[in-house]
Amino acid sequence: MANRLVVVSNRVADPRKTAAGGLAVAMGDALASSGGMWFGWSGQVIDPNNPPPSPGPSGVHVHKAGNVTLATVDLTADDHQAYYLGYSNGVLWPVFHYRLDLADFEAGYIDGYRRVNRMFAHKLLPLLRDDDVIWVQDYHLIPLAAELRALGCKQRIGFFLHIPLPPPQILSAIPAHEWLMRALFAYDLVGVQSQTDLSHLHRYLASEAPAEEAADGRLLAYGRSLLAASFPIGIDVDEFVEIGKGAEARELYGKMREQFAGKQLLVGVDRLDYSKGLPHRIRAFRHLLERYPDNRGSSTLVQVASPSREDVEAYHEIRRELEGLCGAINGDYGDIDWVPIHYIHRTVARKRLPGLFQAGRVALVTPLRDGMNLVAKEFIASQDAADPGVLVLSRFAGAAEQFADALPVNPYDTQATAEAIQAALAMPLAERQIRHQRMLEQIRQFDVHWWRKSFLETLMES
Ligand code: G6P
Repeated sequence: MANRLVVVSNRVADPRKTAAGGLAVAMGDALASSGGMWFGWSGQVIDPNNPPPSPGPSGVHVHKAGNVTLATVDLTADDHQAYYLGYSNGVLWPVFHYRLDLADFEAGYIDGYRRVNRMFAHKLLPLLRDDDVIWVQDYHLIPLAAELRALGCKQRIGFFLHIPLPPPQILSAIPAHEWLMRALFAYDLVGVQSQTDLSHLHRYLASEAPAEEAADGRLLAYGRSLLAASFPIGIDVDEFVEIGKGAEARELYGKMREQFAGKQLLVGVDRLDYSKGLPHRIRAFRHLLERYPDNRGSSTLVQVASPSREDVEAYHEIRRELEGLCGAINGDYGDIDWVPIHYIHRTVARKRLPGLFQAGRVALVTPLRDGMNLVAKEFIASQDAADPGVLVLSRFAGAAEQFADALPVNPYDTQATAEAIQAALAMPLAERQIRHQRMLEQIRQFDVHWWRKSFLETLMES
């Protein structure tokens, strides 16, 4: 593509460094292959009365990282509170994950959300070239295109939502839902993760806008048309396989084999988020130990829960609950020579992660709701094809639409989840091999390069 690619997302990472988190990794890949600019928040929160030395007259920090220009802006403490903690992660995140009970519709957050989106538009506009193609990422920046258009921006702009899009009855509980959804019509293309998300978008617009569907599939409403499609995000399989051959991953694998010799390992790797279903998973593991006592002394769950958004109250509660459950199981079932759950509240470096996955006989990917879940794909990519592990996958993860060969579970059903884990632990080699082979084909065909290309090609044709 001859046009320059400009990615805009709340988080920005140096694409030459291996970042944690699906979005940052995928965008790093998209930009590294074409070059371009990545614009977003610097990660710094500043006190407006005592600002650090200014990054320049425009207030934008600009760095070169290989063929990518990183352009970032700081947030004031008030903006960070209202836009990031308040509206993005206190309203949009819970509602889009079907958790109205956790949403905090406090007035004022939405003003901060609009203010920061407008500020992003003002700072980004002077950096744009006429033939740029702009690709906006995720729920933090839904109104960005509308703000850019209001300033006269004519470039092509696409949007990709990395998180689920809930059914209309849930979405319409957001007091500003009409404003929010109407803002999508300022984009030339809107991408979502799954067919389920896409059908929710169609149903919402059909009932609330109301939109009509044109013969070419475009949605017509508010005097404009919207092209929307699903583009399930993938991983860079070859890159992940390479990381798996590296010294850090090999070393971790070796240590795990030694420490857990003779044990069957179950692994879980998640951000410590209420959408990940961690307490439900731990209860299912407890049920497994109760129902299938042979696992006592022989099966161990290694659960990595990386710290996340610790300034949002709902995240404190989930942490307390999870730690209570893990502690109770270890106390009730553990012995001098066996601990049922190794709970780790820290981030495991991406370079070591494949080592953990390689040591796992079973991966537990059991979110209550997830846009896609790339851990499922990383686990498949890490397995030895001759002796692969088994994926236990929530039917409520976007990845479930692609993985007919995982063992599907309803994470709310503790007993059935425990049964599926037992079936995974007992699965014969031949069946493990065939399931793994088919899932590997899936992640190879629909990898991150496919995702980037198919989204950008559709955007260019739009
Ligand atoms: C999810 C979101 C991303 C976000 C990431 C980490 O994957 O879809 O947009 O960057 O979580 O969350 P954080 O709040 O730390 O950026």
